[in-house]
Amino acid sequence: MAEVAVQAESLVRRFGDFTAVDGLSFEIAPGEIFGFLGPNGSGKSTTIRMLCGLLLPTEGDAFVGGISVAEQPERVREQIGYMSQQFSLYGDLTVYENMEFYGGVYGVAGQRFRSRADALLERLDLHAERDRLAATLSTGVRQRLALACALLHEPPILFLDEPTSGIDPLARRNFFELIAELSEQGVTTLITTHVMDEAEHCHRLLLIYEGRRVAMGTPADLKALVPGRLMEVRVARAMEAADVLEQTTGVLEVSLFATALHVAVSEDVPSPEGLIRDALDAARLAVEEIKPVRLTLEHAFLALTANESEDTVQFARR
Ligand SMILES: Nc1ncnc2c1ncn2[C@@H]1O[C@H](COP(=O)(O)OP(=O)(O)OP(=O)(O)O)[C@@H](O)[C@H]1O
Ligand SMILES: [Mg+2]
Repeated sequence: MAEVAVQAESLVRRFGDFTAVDGLSFEIAPGEIFGFLGPNGSGKSTTIRMLCGLLLPTEGDAFVGGISVAEQPERVREQIGYMSQQFSLYGDLTVYENMEFYGGVYGVAGQRFRSRADALLERLDLHAERDRLAATLSTGVRQRLALACALLHEPPILFLDEPTSGIDPLARRNFFELIAELSEQGVTTLITTHVMDEAEHCHRLLLIYEGRRVAMGTPADLKALVPGRLMEVRVARAMEAADVLEQTTGVLEVSLFATALHVAVSEDVPSPEGLIRDALDAARLAVEEIKPVRLTLEHAFLALTANESEDTVQFARR
């Protein structure tokens, strides 16, 4: 296997005068689980479609299993399994017939097809559904079927575009266990998700905004990019308190998380709790609780993408 599974070099995709992907470069190592994050419309699916050879780059190129998507897009498909954002299954075909159809698309037939199909029905717990029409399946079962179809030809590289959207927590966990298993066998996975818990399971993450890279690294690396210490504040009049804290020197960012405020305080402030308490006391707002909270990827995602839009607080970046 090549040393690099996927290498994107200044990928650009325009639709008319709109630039959806704006010069993305990254490398994914064999066996890596690579999470691709970004707000809605930031260009994730467009990038994946280019990597799958389904959409030509306007500029730049990418090498998938060593094959150029600009030069030989049709050959890329031998290397990859792809689950699109709207899993494309045929509702009027059964589970098994859908697998046969995708077997045909990927050139898996005869005995090889039967043994692969059996193994995947078993591993993905689909035996009982084998003869059901795809149109009648629940979202979780459709998702497993779509994955089975994408894995039929044993591709070394997987592109999964929001594969877990709409599925329950247990199904999600099983899904990630399978991805981890495949990773141990050397299969490379690029996966998009809006669920930050899932992103924690990835080896590395790429965060994009408006088609450009904002940050790339391990989940811990991304969290380390957010400066300051994070405090959770419970206070009776949360919106008023947020206004007060936003005006307070030493406070970097205030956001409402469920019923509490999350307040990022500059590293220079000796006592973040003291700073917050003094500001709220001065405004005669009754504090219920102030405590430090652990920064999650969700905070990092919000802070790093907010950083890119002009109307919000600017964070210093390391
Ligand atoms: N064929 C197309 N023609 C014109 N614009 C397009 C086309 N495909 C995508 N776009 C635009 O490109 C931008 C990026 O879309 P894309 O689907 O890649 O985003 P995404 O990051 O996958 O978003 P989401 O999280 O909602 O799935 C969007 O503004 C979208 O409307
Ligand atoms: Mg998308």
